[in-house]
Amino acid sequence: MEKNFKRYTITAALPYANGGVHIGHLAGVYVPADIYARFLRLQGKDVLFVCGSDEHGVPITLKAKQLGCSPQDVVDKYHNLIKDSFEQFGISFDIYSRTTSKTHTETASKFFRDLYDKGLFIERETEQYFDTEANTFLADRYITGTCPKCGNPSAYGDQCEKCGSTLSPEELINPRSAISGSPLIKKKTKHWYLPLDHYEGWLRQWILDGHKEWKTNVYGQCKSWLDGGLKPRAVSRDLDWGIPVPVKGAEGKVLYVWFDAPIGYISNTRELYPDDWEKWWKDKDTELIHFIGKDNIVFHCIVFPSMLKAHGDYILPENVPANEFLNLEGNKISTSRNWAVWLDEYLVDFPQKQDVLRYVLCANAPETKDNDFTWKDFQTRNNSELVAIYGNFVNRALVLTRKYFDGKVPSADNLTDTDRNILLQIGSLRSSIENSLYAFRFREALKTAMDMARLGNKYLADSEPWKLAKSDMNRVATILNTALQICANLTIIFDPFIPFSSEKLRKMLDIRKMEWNDLGRTDIMKAGHVLGKTALLFEKIEDDQIEAQIMKLQKAKKDNEAKAAEQALKTSGKNPPKPLKNGCVYGDFEKMDIRTATVKEAVRVPKTDKLLKLTIDTGVDIRTIVSGIAEFYTPEEMTGRQICILANLEPRIIRGISSKGMILMAKDENGRMRFITPQDKVDNGASVC
Ligand code: 2FM
Ligand code: ZN
Repeated sequence: MEKNFKRYTITAALPYANGGVHIGHLAGVYVPADIYARFLRLQGKDVLFVCGSDEHGVPITLKAKQLGCSPQDVVDKYHNLIKDSFEQFGISFDIYSRTTSKTHTETASKFFRDLYDKGLFIERETEQYFDTEANTFLADRYITGTCPKCGNPSAYGDQCEKCGSTLSPEELINPRSAISGSPLIKKKTKHWYLPLDHYEGWLRQWILDGHKEWKTNVYGQCKSWLDGGLKPRAVSRDLDWGIPVPVKGAEGKVLYVWFDAPIGYISNTRELYPDDWEKWWKDKDTELIHFIGKDNIVFHCIVFPSMLKAHGDYILPENVPANEFLNLEGNKISTSRNWAVWLDEYLVDFPQKQDVLRYVLCANAPETKDNDFTWKDFQTRNNSELVAIYGNFVNRALVLTRKYFDGKVPSADNLTDTDRNILLQIGSLRSSIENSLYAFRFREALKTAMDMARLGNKYLADSEPWKLAKSDMNRVATILNTALQICANLTIIFDPFIPFSSEKLRKMLDIRKMEWNDLGRTDIMKAGHVLGKTALLFEKIEDDQIEAQIMKLQKAKKDNEAKAAEQALKTSGKNPPKPLKNGCVYGDFEKMDIRTATVKEAVRVPKTDKLLKLTIDTGVDIRTIVSGIAEFYTPEEMTGRQICILANLEPRIIRGISSKGMILMAKDENGRMRFITPQDKVDNGASVC
């Protein structure tokens, strides 16, 4: 239900600037937030839609280490990439700034100081993991070891990315520093804590009694946190990247990223409206809505509201419509495993098709449970819904108007009951979609919009104006007028969801952007109005385009498996095997005469460190082979050993000795050469095949 606030502050979770934006982000947070903002703006409401990059915290420093550059370089690169992707997809932020901005540093420091000066933090000294080699305290993310649940050798101290288990560093098998690889010690350090337990009673009342209308997944998660009992939370960290704790004696300590990030919403508002920002955050007539993913619920429903409440001057969120997660082709989206569809890559493969993705992600949004994105579903929704219903209807209406009325809107002089009924139905869809949108049920809302297109499509198909053209042009005029009124309404109802297509259709109809209030009007298209140029509103997506995407994912899976195998080898201390050689045919192998043989005698080659002169019994002859194995075997160790040799290798003179053949060897895990010896007793001279 619509509530009458004077203005609306809509926030969308600040993405970490350590990677690009993928479809999971878009479906979970940014598309729904943008739909809501656009819907309110169309209604003429005063809206602030705010976001920015989250540029502090351990994930950024980890990425910098991985790339061998500074954290500042990392955030500069990804801030621009992310900002660009959002712009390309029409996410209509009023401001997209960053938490490394001067305004943010000032705002977050002041916020901390305000609470500090009121005595609202507790100071505590605790023992934390410390890396003596890197001389730094380690956040849980910096600790790595073997997962006790699935055996993944590269699990983190807070989570195993392979099996998804939440972990603590104590649970890891063989825990060590992810920075230096060295084992860990514990060391004392002082931090500031927000005593969340003090706010528990108030939170219970505010959320559990006062916001029963919140989505079940959000309400349920809050209840389980509150029922579990809240504990003080540290709001500072020992790290050299972040906003310094603005207190004397806090050198080397920065604000915890989850303390400063949500304040970023406020800072970015200040940046946009330096003189006028407070009304968006401190006026009771402003509705504050946070759009987030489910992993952010505790921070936006419990921690940040407690900070705002403690401060005292700020309004609290009216709602936090968090979504669940979107999976990709049956697997969890994972940045590190590159199991994702990245927005910048999508636009290279599907140029100008932003709306198709916006449509599919909204139609299949993980609103109440985790959902799966599949490329097949993407194709079907495009081809069978956008193209076959919406696009087909619009195309028919425009082409027929061009054909029979020279592209001018015909007049509707004799509306029948069928026409009136259709127009009535169009009107009634408005209240239905409004109810869905105010309740944050965006999938349902989009379905209602598509129902309008469906209605139009069926109306044209049933009334068959092309068959009436010879007998009843008056009737054809009325039908096409009605169809064009529906087209105009479609530009409005779809505008929050697929704004690029609404703009395209407006151009085809040659009409200006309408307001939400115009939705349901049946006189938008005036008789005699000349239509614009007709084009296809949506295009079919072919099978080969979809196959290419599936191949891309399969390649990512393969690359990732190879990376995991390499990583497992690294952790086990072994060298990865060399890549296989190509191009050996059976004839090449047949040419090589490999035989079993026995070393009769071994002596060092004078004035060399590496060479042994071996006398070999090949079963066929007794010969000499010079081999570079003196650093791995003593002459005594060699005598009497059975080995394998390539017996028909052309003789070579080494240090004046004629060497006939080559001994077959392999490197062990420490890089030492070892003989290939028959496991069972074999006569000398037996062919190896
Ligand atoms: O989970 C995340 O990606 C965080 N960067 C979200 C922060 S939201 C807000 F608090 F800034
Ligand atoms: Zn695991």
